[in-house]
This record gives sequence, C-alpha cells and structure tokens, in this order.
Amino acid sequence: MANNIRMEMIRFEQVSKNYGAVEAVKNLDFSVEKGVCFGFLGPNGAGKTTTIKMLTGILIPTGGRILIDGHDIQREPDKAKQLIGFIPDKPFIYDKLTGAEFLDFILDIYKIGRKTAEPKRRELLKVFALADWQNELVENYSHGMKQKLVITGVLIHNPLVMVIDEPMVGLDPHGHKIVKHLLREFCANGNTIFMSTHTLSVAQELCHRISIIDKGNIIATGDIGELRSQAHADSDQLEQIFLKLTEPAE
Ligand SMILES: Nc1ncnc2c1ncn2[C@@H]1O[C@H](COP(=O)(O)OP(=O)(O)O)[C@@H](O)[C@H]1O
Ligand SMILES: [Mg+2]
Repeated sequence: MANNIRMEMIRFEQVSKNYGAVEAVKNLDFSVEKGVCFGFLGPNGAGKTTTIKMLTGILIPTGGRILIDGHDIQREPDKAKQLIGFIPDKPFIYDKLTGAEFLDFILDIYKIGRKTAEPKRRELLKVFALADWQNELVENYSHGMKQKLVITGVLIHNPLVMVIDEPMVGLDPHGHKIVKHLLREFCANGNTIFMSTHTLSVAQELCHRISIIDKGNIIATGDIGELRSQAHADSDQLEQIFLKLTEPAE
C-alpha cells in the first residue's frame, strides 16, 4: 500500500461526553481503518447514539476530539462533514419535498452535479423500487420507503465514511438483502462504515471489526474470533458472545 494513502479514516482521541452528572461515554480511544465495516454494539443506554452524534458533529464532546480522514469534526466541520454520509435511526426528510427534490437537495449540499449523479441515481431508485415514487411527496412514503430514500441520498454522494444508526429498522426482508449488498459493495470499494445495530446477524455478516460498548466504556474489540476469545464463549455466534460480554452483574 502506498504510504500517501491514509489508512485511518476515523479516529477517536480520548473522547468523553457527560450530560450533567451522567458520564454517557468515557474515554473512547480507537480508530477505524479505510475499507472497514465497523460495528458499534451495546445494550440500551450504553452510549451508542451519543457517540454517533459526536462523530457526525451534532454533539460536542466534553473531552477529546474526533478526526475524519485527519480533519477534526469540531475545528474543521465543513471539511469533515463533506466526507460523511449519515443515516440516522429515524429517517428525517422534509415531508413536503418529493423524493426527487430530496435527492437534488442532497446533491446540491455535497456540490455534486445532477448529470454526474444521474446513472447512480437511476440505479439506486430502481433497486429500491422507488422510481415510480420519485415525484410523490415524501409524506406519502412508508417508513421503509423513507429509510430507502435516505440510504439512496447517502450512496448517491459516495462519501468516504458512512455513519449508520440502526440500518435495518423499518425494512422488510427484501430491503435487508438489498441494503446488505449495497453496504458490502460500499466497503469493497474502499469506503468505511461506522454502524450501530441491535441486529446481531447483520453485524455478524457485514462487520470486519466490532466494538462492544457498555455503560460508556468499550469492553471488547476485535473480529468475531477475537471477541469470542475475549468473551470465553463456546461458539462464533455473535449473539452468544454479546450476551456473555454484557450480562448484568449478579
Ligand atoms: N440528552 C440527554 N440528557 C441526559 N442524559 C442523556 C441524554 N442522552 C442520553 N443520555 C444518557 O446517556 C446514556 C447513553 O445514552 P445513548 O447514547 O442514547 O445510548 P444508546 O444509544 O446506546 O442506547 C444513557 O444513560 C442515557 O440515559
Ligand atoms: Mg441509541
């Protein structure tokens, strides 16, 4: 690998977040390399959404800093955010836009010409069966269709880093299959994913590396084999590994 290519796409440096007296995230210190699909798992209240909101520049850390391809999300927000595509757990789209207008809006924000994006746009609308809906107002879309449109909006600008909070919520089994395929292809092209999910089968299938966070601390990191040995689990099933690592103390 040529050494002018940065391998470290996401870097957390001693990142913490307090809400008043609540220490939601404590001293996160790790990186995610280029081309990696990284899974960020943990029980409810562990600190996943807080971490994702800091990573995407929505929340300011109490301590530490986060770099996207070397750019500090707080100090160089425009540069860093230009590199990120974000899929939140609840798809938020202005209801009074049509699907096509929403995609135009995304292309304008990321300064991508509509002509340039046309082939990708056509392909994505087709795989998600949204082509016939693109001139309908988003308020008439189902939750799953909104989620598909948000995913289209991210893939259409081909960010270096995709951040996803729960990719599969609201999608039917066909949607699951398509999204898994698209995410795998996205990483195979050298892009990076940071994903939080409770769907452990999806994490098991897609993620090259996983960190498990519990009560604001990362308690295990690695590929499935490494997590298995850290958990002293007797199978490669991520569900069993996860439950062993995060079981409440007796
Ligand atoms: N705005 C907030 N104000 C106060 N406490 C919060 C706020 N958001 C989250 N928390 C607390 O921070 C911790 C982590 O929450 P969160 O990041 O949402 O966890 P997760 O996404 O893993 O379920 C929890 O204890 C939660 O109650
Ligand atoms: Mg959450």
